[in-house]
Amino acid sequence: MKKWGVARCQAILTEETISFIVQSMEIKPAVLVVDDEPGARQSLEVILEDDYQVLSVGSGSEALETLQKLPVDLVLLDINMPDMDGLEVLRKIKEQDEEVDVIMVSALNLARKAVDAIKLGAYDYITKPYEPEDILSTVARVINKRNLHKELDFLRKEVEVSRGFDEIISQNKRMLEIFQLVQKVAYTSTNILITGESGTGKELIARSIHRQGNRKSGPFVAINCAAIPSELMESEMFGHEKGAFTGAHTRAIGKFEYANGGTLFLDEISALRSDLQAKLLRVLQEREIERIGSNRPIRVDIRVISATNTNLEDAVAQGKFRQDLYFRLNVVPLPIPPLRERKEDIPLLANHFLNKFNVAFNKKVQGFSEKALDVLLRYHWPGNIRELENLTERIVVLSTNDEPIDLKAIPLEILMDSDQDIEDSESKKGGLIKIREAFERRVILNVLEATKWNQTEAAKILKVNRNTLLQKAKQLGIHLKK
Ligand SMILES: Nc1ncnc2c1ncn2[C@@H]1O[C@H](COP(=O)(O)OP(=O)(O)OP(=O)(O)O)[C@@H](O)[C@H]1O
Ligand SMILES: [Mg+2]
Repeated sequence: MKKWGVARCQAILTEETISFIVQSMEIKPAVLVVDDEPGARQSLEVILEDDYQVLSVGSGSEALETLQKLPVDLVLLDINMPDMDGLEVLRKIKEQDEEVDVIMVSALNLARKAVDAIKLGAYDYITKPYEPEDILSTVARVINKRNLHKELDFLRKEVEVSRGFDEIISQNKRMLEIFQLVQKVAYTSTNILITGESGTGKELIARSIHRQGNRKSGPFVAINCAAIPSELMESEMFGHEKGAFTGAHTRAIGKFEYANGGTLFLDEISALRSDLQAKLLRVLQEREIERIGSNRPIRVDIRVISATNTNLEDAVAQGKFRQDLYFRLNVVPLPIPPLRERKEDIPLLANHFLNKFNVAFNKKVQGFSEKALDVLLRYHWPGNIRELENLTERIVVLSTNDEPIDLKAIPLEILMDSDQDIEDSESKKGGLIKIREAFERRVILNVLEATKWNQTEAAKILKVNRNTLLQKAKQLGIHLKK
């Protein structure tokens, strides 16, 4: 929809356009009135129009057609109609879309039929003549029920996602600055771009922004742009009407609509297809969406937090990501440093996760030994905090006693720190044997260093006996005391 400047509005807008614009500004539930008598339709329109978007048609076939084209929350359906009986229409509506709620409207002498209609899936019935309050309260009950269902759906998903959500832990100066910034921006609706390597806590930060702000009672909805097949992405974002494309058997509400009043988290934003980048930009500018297969604009009030672990500026420079969209998303940048650049957090986080998994697995593992912590401090953590969390979980699960975690419990790949490049040196030229030797040398050196050159302990970790270790070391030119 176009944006209307105030002056232009006065000059060119007709009554009809104004009412259309005003209507689409708020999301009013849509009610479809189906009655062959124009008078009956009109009176329902008058009763409902303040609170609902009312569409009305005079026959069952028109009703079915309308339901295919437009999103409708509730149908008020007359039982007694000449071309197609109300019960028949009801059956077809339910066949077409089970989720549409239907209230039957019937003359008193047809009340039996209305009861049959309930068996066919109608939600309720109202008998004529009715009081406007009867209509309004029955309709409100259905709409409230629908909203409740939507919310419940959401909460269920949210509980799953937020299980295990703990406080964010850090003592690092850059992280503390980020926390301060988060507090400042949480109460605004400014778009935020969180950058950082995989596992640095981007989603955790996004959720905490949502929780600290004035949208916290609204939903937090996440879309992972890299995880959803690209052909399904548009529908995931904006939803679709039934029949909008092959396979669209029912109407689906998109994540943007679900996020209304809350926060939309666009994870891995760099993976967004370029046509969808254009659509996203439009949504951010116009603040409204259209479901696929419908041209009814729906207003959405969302705060967008996006995240990426790739360099978006580079993607912009390479023409893979729209610059205008980048600017719009990146109003407040939050660059999260990798774990290896905030080493002071490693012991804190390791102990935090240890406590968490002790509780989860009913264990009492007593902290980390000094040597084990040294290794964790030296390791370069390519998977960042997630990797540390997973490692701690694995160690706690596998622990057989309550002793502090020792080197033996730390996997070799961490002991040998894959940060170093084994492919350099002359080993490449020397072929497989040289490469293997270089590799073995590094593993042994790292383990020895981790054990502070305690040969017995190193041998245990390497699962060889001490003599074999001494022999190997000699072969590889590592000097060990006998
Ligand atoms: N500072 C922190 N304190 C406590 N837990 C943290 C912290 N940062 C991250 N975590 C935990 O580490 C895990 C990974 O965090 P999260 O999923 O937020 O990372 P991410 O940056 O979104 O990763 P990816 O790029 O792979 O999606 C989560 O279980 C999260 O709870
Ligand atoms: Mg993430």
